[in-house]
Amino acid sequence: MAAMARSILDVRGVTLAFGGVKALNDVSFSVQEGSITSVIGPNGAGKTSVFNTISGFYKPASGDILFCDQSLAGIKPPRRAALGMARSFQNIALFRGMSVLDNIKLGRHCHLKTGPLSALFYTRAARREEEALRQEIEERIIDFLEIDHIRKAPVASLSYGLQKRVELARALAMKPKILLLDEPVAGMNREETEDMARFILEVRREWGVTILMVEHDMGMVMDLSDHVIVLNFGQVIADGKPADVQANPEVIKAYLGSGDVMALRARYKDAAIARARSAA
Ligand SMILES: Nc1ncnc2c1ncn2[C@@H]1O[C@H](COP(=O)(O)OP(=O)(O)O)[C@@H](O)[C@H]1O
Ligand SMILES: [Mg+2]
Repeated sequence: MAAMARSILDVRGVTLAFGGVKALNDVSFSVQEGSITSVIGPNGAGKTSVFNTISGFYKPASGDILFCDQSLAGIKPPRRAALGMARSFQNIALFRGMSVLDNIKLGRHCHLKTGPLSALFYTRAARREEEALRQEIEERIIDFLEIDHIRKAPVASLSYGLQKRVELARALAMKPKILLLDEPVAGMNREETEDMARFILEVRREWGVTILMVEHDMGMVMDLSDHVIVLNFGQVIADGKPADVQANPEVIKAYLGSGDVMALRARYKDAAIARARSAA
């Protein structure tokens, strides 16, 4: 990571309420450009709410979010996408009957210069643009994510792990500055998890995309992240380097309270063993 990194996303004092329940309570944190930053926390901590607020699906009761030093207040989700924010969802949001390629193509629509009117007349310029777009997508993203063999397959016919990879491909097709990944390895087996971890690292390295992810898998978070933010009951309880966060007593307590710290630890250990084996 660059030593002179600057902040690309600033969440400042965001509070979000559903009825009487405060899903987020004065949440503040920054994401450094070029970093892999993770938001973790027990179930119901407010992780998805943070994402939905950043991408503009939820409107905070107070606070502000800055993207590249610009306030996002009043800016609708499609415009945020065009500004360079792409996301994947906790539950896959693809068009299941459509092919992999068509799903990926949808990702670039926010950047097409030809407006709806000229697209209607389908000018030569529009056709050229579409052709260039198609090639870029095919050559770069499909190649990169190793999904060449399934480009014509309907999404519904794919394994869960591959569907998640297609969702990542579609997000990449938006040419984002920042990629928001909501639980990218939830429900994946170990092999799928390790593939996804590798792709996330490569997206950052090869495409220079900043990554902000919400993830439940502690092992994955500690392995990949430069920076970790811990939420509990809608509040930031820790914010720092993975090792510091992992050793933080309040974080351990939060996970113990949720009852899943042992499972997370076991998984972390298993993954470390598997990596050691494959390296041997
Ligand atoms: N659309 C919603 N309507 C009402 N309550 C919600 C909604 N979304 C989230 N919440 C509540 O906000 C809190 C945080 O939820 P969420 O952000 O989904 O947590 P996480 O992703 O960390 O599991 C929970 O108490 C949840 O019940
Ligand atoms: Mg969630």
